[in-house]
Amino acid sequence: MFARSAVAVAAAVLAAVCASVNVDAAATGSCARNYTVVAGDTCDGICAKENVSTFQLASVNNGTINADCSNLFAGEALCLGIVGQDCQVTHVVKSGDSCLSIAQAAGTTEEILLANNPNVNSQCTNLHSGEVLCTADDVIVVNSTVTSKA
Ligand SMILES: *[C@@H]1O[C@H](CO)[C@@H](O)[C@H](O)[C@H]1NC(C)=O
Ligand SMILES: *[C@@H]1O[C@H](CO)[C@@H](O)[C@H](O)[C@H]1NC(C)=O
Ligand SMILES: *[C@@H]1O[C@H](CO)[C@@H](O)[C@H](O)[C@H]1NC(C)=O
Ligand SMILES: *[C@@H]1O[C@H](CO)[C@@H](O)[C@H](O)[C@H]1NC(C)=O
Repeated sequence: MFARSAVAVAAAVLAAVCASVNVDAAATGSCARNYTVVAGDTCDGICAKENVSTFQLASVNNGTINADCSNLFAGEALCLGIVGQDCQVTHVVKSGDSCLSIAQAAGTTEEILLANNPNVNSQCTNLHSGEVLCTADDVIVVNSTVTSKA
C-alpha cells in the first residue's frame, strides 16, 4: 500500500516536472505590438518601418513565418514583440556596416549587439543590407512566441 502510493506520488511529481518542462519549451507571451500584413510587405521591410529586428520578428512568429519569409499574405496578423522581450531600438544594415561600427554608432558594444541578434554569426560575416538589428544597450532575451491566435 505504502509502496504503491509512493510510486503514485513519484509518478505525479515526474508528470508535473515534465509538464513544466513542456510549458517552458513552448513558452508563449502576450503580444506588445500587433501588426497586419499589407500587400508588398517583406519581413525586412516590416522590420525597417516598425523598428523590430529581423531576428525578433522571425522568433516571435516562429511557426507562422517560414524560414525564408516567403509565406506572408495581406491581412495576416503578426506580432512584432512580446511584452518584456520587445527591442524597439533598431538599425537597418547598409552596405559598409560592420558590427563594430553599428554598435559604436548606437552606443552599445559588439558583444551586446551579437547577444541581441543571434542570427548574426560571431565573426559578423553574414550581415546583409536591409536586415534590421536590435541595437539596445542591454541584452533583451527573446525566447517566447506569441500566444496562439484565434
Ligand atoms: C527566457 O529568458 C528569461 C530571461 O533570461 C528567463 O528568465 C526565462 O526563464 C526564459 N524562458 C525560457 C522558456 O527559456
Ligand atoms: C493584439 O491582438 C490580440 C488578438 O487580437 C489582442 O488580444 C491584443 O490585445 C492585441 N494587443 C495589442 C497590444 O494591441
Ligand atoms: C522608429 O524609430 C525611429 C527612431 O527612434 C522613430 O523616429 C520612429 O517614429 C519609429 N517608428 C515606429 C513605427 O515606431
Ligand atoms: C524556431 O523554433 C525552432 C524549434 O524550436 C528553433 O529551432 C528555431 O531556432 C526557431 N527560430 C527562431 C528564428 O527563433
